[in-house]
Amino acid sequence: MYSEKVMDHFMNPRNMGEIENASGVGVVGNPKCGDIMKIYLDIEDGIIKDVKFKTFGCGAAVATSSMATELVKGKTIEEALKVTNKAVMEALDGLPPVKVHCSVLAEEAIHAALWDYAQKNGIEIEGLKPPVDHDDHHHDIHEDDE
Ligand code: FES
Repeated sequence: MYSEKVMDHFMNPRNMGEIENASGVGVVGNPKCGDIMKIYLDIEDGIIKDVKFKTFGCGAAVATSSMATELVKGKTIEEALKVTNKAVMEALDGLPPVKVHCSVLAEEAIHAALWDYAQKNGIEIEGLKPPVDHDDHHHDIHEDDE
């Protein structure tokens, strides 16, 4: 049912953890299943120097977070914006149809973290839309923010 790459990223997730004083943090929740994903970006001179994630969710969400962090690491903000859920799924050799919605979290979390970065620095990132606030439950894990 799952590709080898999905299993690999699920069993050995890359870039799991958090970044202290991150340039941008994005938290998104999946209203269908209640799973939550948090992405931390360290951005310097428009380049994503480091990225970490925390996912409270299903295996497909963990695998897509892991792959998404690999795809944006070392990239420019513009390049990171092009890392869509489709690109992440392709990099994982596909996901079962019922799990496609899980990969949307990764794209949304990266966008939310970039949005946070832009807000903190008073800049505008072309083509970036404000994060969708599906509902309020994902604010629960904000308590470690200042
Ligand atoms: Fe919730 Fe996959 S089932 S993100």
